[in-house]
Amino acid sequence: APDGLAATPPMGWSSWNKFAEHIDDRTIRAMADAMVSSGLRDAGYVYVNIDDGWQGTRGPDGELRPNDKFPDMKALADYIHGKGLKLGIYSSPGLKTCAGYTGSYGHVEQDAKTFARWGVDYLKYDLCSGEWQYADADTVMRTYYQMGAALKATGRPIIYSLCQYGRFDVASWGRSVGGHLWRTTGDITDDYKKMSEIGFDRNPKFAHAGPGGWNDPDMLEVGNGGMSHDEYTTHMTLWAMSAAPLLMGHDLRTTTPDALKLLENKEVIAVDQDRLGVQGALVRRDGAVEIWSKPLADGSVAIALFNRGEIDARVAFLPADAKLSRITRVRDLWRGKSTGSGPVKYSVPGHGAVMLRVAGKR
Ligand code: DGJ
Repeated sequence: APDGLAATPPMGWSSWNKFAEHIDDRTIRAMADAMVSSGLRDAGYVYVNIDDGWQGTRGPDGELRPNDKFPDMKALADYIHGKGLKLGIYSSPGLKTCAGYTGSYGHVEQDAKTFARWGVDYLKYDLCSGEWQYADADTVMRTYYQMGAALKATGRPIIYSLCQYGRFDVASWGRSVGGHLWRTTGDITDDYKKMSEIGFDRNPKFAHAGPGGWNDPDMLEVGNGGMSHDEYTTHMTLWAMSAAPLLMGHDLRTTTPDALKLLENKEVIAVDQDRLGVQGALVRRDGAVEIWSKPLADGSVAIALFNRGEIDARVAFLPADAKLSRITRVRDLWRGKSTGSGPVKYSVPGHGAVMLRVAGKR
């Protein structure tokens, strides 16, 4: 990446999935506190992202001010930085954001400067409001370029997240407008059907992901309670295999032990964050089972066995799935165990996943 940002997919938390507009300074600080005390920060989650709903009105000088729920953005940024975390914020190119708050229209450069002055480290720029529905590719690219250039001009390193739902083949131009990640679909919801449709079917269609610019299948729902543990295991495995940004979306104060296990597994995170930055992909289908592979920087290969069916399956992965002629080492990442290197069959529960890291001979 020319600016060195997002060498690996960004990791953190965002307010939208759990809180939508019901956010305030106190809640954001509490999330930062919980991110540290839970160990999630040390596992790699560092961005605390305020999504839609923080904005107030513009002052006489045109400067965008937060609403009453956020008395002092600079102080909030300082607090978050003091915890070894980074602050993200949200805006839209229109007059209004999706949720009807003030957007950056006519104030793009000014808002970029304001965000930089507050100490913001990440901006999600969301293409909402009716008028954008009808915009052509050129207009959309230009509008994203304008904010990208404005952020660069501030001189502050700010991750730039494009949110326009994968329209106009964004993966092919996201980097050129300064983007570090770009959404590939509409919003995720906390259910297996939507999550699996995004993760298995939609996101893999996008090309060009890698260091500095990532396909973004949307934020995590792990911990929100709408899916079973096996389904959340699939969610986390699929996002890690896809080198997706890992932005948690639940209330960090009440993370269950099961959710924490999924979010904090160091070996799984290492696959997502692998510096080669290859987006994993489907290599073989076996009935309802999908076998995915993701080559890693040390020459080993991450393999995922996904069972999209509802009945438990017994699945063997083959050396060829990892483009290897012989397997010498297999590590089961969710069980935290090394397993035999012979032709082992794995039980994959319905809607569940097994994730392996294998080494061997080419
Ligand atoms: C639509 C986006 O896709 C969501 O992630 C969220 O940012 C909302 N807009 C906020 O209004």
